[in-house]
Amino acid sequence: MLKDKKIIIGVTGSIAAFKVPSLIRLLTKEGALVQVVMTPAARDFVTPLTLATLSGQPVLTEPFNPDNGEWISHVELGQWADVMLIAPASANTLGKMASGIADNLLLTTYLAAKCPVFFAPAMDLDMFRHPTTAMNIEELQSFGNHLIAPTEGELASGLCGAGRMEEPENIVNILTEHFSKYWDFPGKKVLVSAGPTHEAIDPVRFIGNHSSGLMGFAIADEFAERGAEVVLVTGPTNCQVSNDGIKRIDVVTAKEMQDACMEYFEHTDIIVMAAAVADYTPLKAAPEKIKKTDGELKLTLKKTTDILAEMGGKKKSGQFLVGFALETENQLSNAEKKLKNKKLDLIVLNSPKDQGAAFGVETNKVTMITSDLKQFEYDLKLKLDVAIDIVDKIKELAV
Ligand code: CTP
Repeated sequence: MLKDKKIIIGVTGSIAAFKVPSLIRLLTKEGALVQVVMTPAARDFVTPLTLATLSGQPVLTEPFNPDNGEWISHVELGQWADVMLIAPASANTLGKMASGIADNLLLTTYLAAKCPVFFAPAMDLDMFRHPTTAMNIEELQSFGNHLIAPTEGELASGLCGAGRMEEPENIVNILTEHFSKYWDFPGKKVLVSAGPTHEAIDPVRFIGNHSSGLMGFAIADEFAERGAEVVLVTGPTNCQVSNDGIKRIDVVTAKEMQDACMEYFEHTDIIVMAAAVADYTPLKAAPEKIKKTDGELKLTLKKTTDILAEMGGKKKSGQFLVGFALETENQLSNAEKKLKNKKLDLIVLNSPKDQGAAFGVETNKVTMITSDLKQFEYDLKLKLDVAIDIVDKIKELAV
């Protein structure tokens, strides 16, 4: 469950920092990718060298790399992580987190993090009992952060009571349980297409389109993150998948995309055709480079097979088929027509006329239409977040 999960461990100045090496070891053994961010005070309790060695990553403390002055982006860090875990969380850091103070890299990363945040307090009995600490913990929980409550026992001061950081094994179990909640598609076979196709005119020229592939890649990653077995058939693109469990098949032409998709179609539960497949291809590609002449150049094009329509015709019960529609006019009625004609279960409509939507940009604004013609309109979002909405909707309807 933790394989390839990206986890930031924020370490603060508490004696319980001595448990962090075991925690990192357990997480990396499960295949998690761990990035440690320490507060300056934490370095007095456990060495950055130990944590860097165990996590296999340099430990980050300063917003600038002291060796080369390079800026370390807390925003990128916050967006990279699937989970941020602050362990141990000292009373001081809890107070700063609760009141939005951002005077070190751990705190700026916390404020920028888009992922779920867990915090495991560790402090002496009286500090833990203090009303300010209780208030800060309550405040942090009200923001949606998850408390990993301290346990009772003997504390470093010699006092006995609540304040011991939860044991690393139990923290790993809590994170595993968290990720298993998102394990929506275990064993489901999913086929996603992405990117443009290129149709050769001659050996050096082709007919293509502006599809970047971002949307399809984000959908493939989201399915894989949630337990599906994903095959991604992609046209030419610079995109990379994040999840290395995805089987990627690179194609160039509409015919190659058709062949690759149809090879997997029969044994697939969910199909999402996000590719911008060429509708026409040159009747015959010239074997040599076409030379310029004085007159006009006419190209004769023939229709390609509509892969999605072919799938709609062959769909068996239990298969769930999703198409995209890119429309510049009569958007809803055209999308509904495609939904019916291609026998889809869901269509995702996007309009290049919406600002910030469709080809070549990182954002998209979509309306999803289900087979009973119910419409669901979404705000302009990052394609990564649109992918979550699409996969959530499929989960609701198909699983
Ligand atoms: N599609 C396909 N095979 C094609 C063309 C399109 O599988 N040869 C799929 C796309 O992947 C997309 C859906 O069909 O999921 C709709 O594509 P779009 O280009 O919007 O519509 P078309 O059906 O091609 O119609 P038109 O271009 O006339 O709007």
